[in-house]
Amino acid sequence: MTSRRVLITGAGQGVGRGLALAFAEAGAEVVVNDLHRQRAELVADEIEAAGGAAVPVAFDVCDYEAVVAAVAQAGPVDVLINNAGNAGADGFGGRAMFAETDPADWESFLRVNLYGVLHCTRAVLPAMIANAWGRILTVVSDAGRTGDRGGAVYGAAKAGAAGLTRSVALENGRFNITANNISLGTMRTPLTEPLWAQAAESPQAKEILRNYAIRRPGVPEDVAELALMLAGEGGSWITGQTICVNGGYSFGL
Ligand SMILES: NC(=O)c1ccc[n+]([C@@H]2O[C@H](COP(=O)([O-])OP(=O)(O)OC[C@H]3O[C@@H](n4cnc5c(N)ncnc54)[C@H](O)[C@@H]3O)[C@@H](O)[C@H]2O)c1
Repeated sequence: MTSRRVLITGAGQGVGRGLALAFAEAGAEVVVNDLHRQRAELVADEIEAAGGAAVPVAFDVCDYEAVVAAVAQAGPVDVLINNAGNAGADGFGGRAMFAETDPADWESFLRVNLYGVLHCTRAVLPAMIANAWGRILTVVSDAGRTGDRGGAVYGAAKAGAAGLTRSVALENGRFNITANNISLGTMRTPLTEPLWAQAAESPQAKEILRNYAIRRPGVPEDVAELALMLAGEGGSWITGQTICVNGGYSFGL
């Protein structure tokens, strides 16, 4: 990753933070985005303290003008990782059967998980095309790949983002730009920590883990090697794919 500039959205904690640390360790200059400036700054400080290169950049991926301005200021990006996501306005708590959802509550899922990916991808593509090289990774969810009881709108937004990846891959392969999805199963991150913190007593946690061949939630470190491979030269003929990092989660178990 030496001499590559990598923009990672939502990198102030969780999966994005893990990716930021791994890409910095691999020699990239990491543009650490988060909605919360302090989170982005803490991760950038952590990278610099370890001898890496990082720039914290706070913006909301839902705000296209802010995304464009931040990308213009950061300079051309070689690798974009669309990681910022939101499993609902209320973290992991806003789950409901679709028949019981209110249309007014759909917006927050769609704005971050779908519009955020549209905005960031659109903002970085022109420079990648001009540079005739680029990598776009989008962190999606098995909620969008297989369906999710209680997470239908989140899943729909993630499936939309995964669909965008395939078109971007088709349109831009001729410029040496690849676009792929990494589909995650249930992770242990600040997003889902309330569930895993009480896993021993939680019937919900036990029920979730029954669907996983490897009976633990994923952790950010589980994602880094695949992301580095896809973003490097080794990934140059892999595009338009959705690759699962999910402990063997299967539909219908
Ligand atoms: N945690 C899981 O179980 C799980 C499962 C499947 C997929 N995912 C996906 O993985 C990705 C990372 O999830 P995580 O568990 O690390 O989440 P997290 O909530 O722990 O961290 C996400 C980070 O993104 C930032 N963010 C949120 N909205 C933003 C916005 N509009 N603009 C910029 N930054 C924003 C948050 O401030 C936060 O720091 C998300 O796309 C999520 O949907 C997570």
